[in-house]
Amino acid sequence: MTELPEHVVRNRALWDDWARKYVASGERRWARGEPVWGIFSVPESDVGMLPDDLAGKDAIELGCGTAYISAWMARRGAHVVGIDNSEAQLATARRLQREHALDFPLLHGNAETVPYPDASFDFAISEYGASLWADPERWVPEAARLLRPGGQLVFLVNSFLLTLCMPAEDGVAATDRLLRPAFGMYRVEWPGDPGVEFHLSHGDWIRLLRRSEFEVEDLIEIRPPAEASTRYPFVTLEWARQWPCEEVWKARKR
Ligand SMILES: C[S@@+](CC[C@H](N)C(=O)[O-])C[C@H]1O[C@@H](n2cnc3c(N)ncnc32)[C@H](O)[C@@H]1O
Repeated sequence: MTELPEHVVRNRALWDDWARKYVASGERRWARGEPVWGIFSVPESDVGMLPDDLAGKDAIELGCGTAYISAWMARRGAHVVGIDNSEAQLATARRLQREHALDFPLLHGNAETVPYPDASFDFAISEYGASLWADPERWVPEAARLLRPGGQLVFLVNSFLLTLCMPAEDGVAATDRLLRPAFGMYRVEWPGDPGVEFHLSHGDWIRLLRRSEFEVEDLIEIRPPAEASTRYPFVTLEWARQWPCEEVWKARKR
């Protein structure tokens, strides 16, 4: 068996531990008919994360967690595969599959090396999954390998601006000051937090996507709806009304 990279081993331990904190939100999102996205539950009509014509398409969720996005795609008629690095997250996903009478493959593994042949999928998606926790230099080319020509990659992450304004202390909300340099940011380890995240500038994302056989189609800076709320302490609604706290990238495989 190939050895897992160090950041994947660390993030596996972290997510096996955090999985219990994601059970209730996973249950709520599985129960929804219409998708909502990100930390402020922005409606699908605002961001268009999912293509209109998913019926009969092959779709993969990279870092699926409790797999509610996979469930939404399966209900739209897609042939779905979810892959996640945490067996504990997948245990919740499997239970919710049974409760909602939906069945699709859920793989325990690293989204940087997915055990499917080249050109197996029409659509790949990640919401704070591989898009945040896997190494972009590995998972973006892997997504390109998995997609057929003309296939689409859509992913949601913290905005780069938020990452510059977030205090390192856990539980403290983003400020209106730039707290760290933008240049050179890539792999990020927050003090006291055992996980490893990856945050790229817009220029770095564009160059990586283009190098990996993608054309960038859109970059959506998310604005929360009027009455939005979030359980996450790292950004306030007041901040998110003034600056983008999350961003969605849409790219097409050449
Ligand atoms: C925040 S959850 C994403 C799921 C869901 N969209 C959500 O926002 O709750 C992050 C998930 O990414 C998974 N993950 C982290 N690194 C990964 C990797 N290298 N390959 C696959 N999954 C990974 C974690 O195990 C975790 O379940």
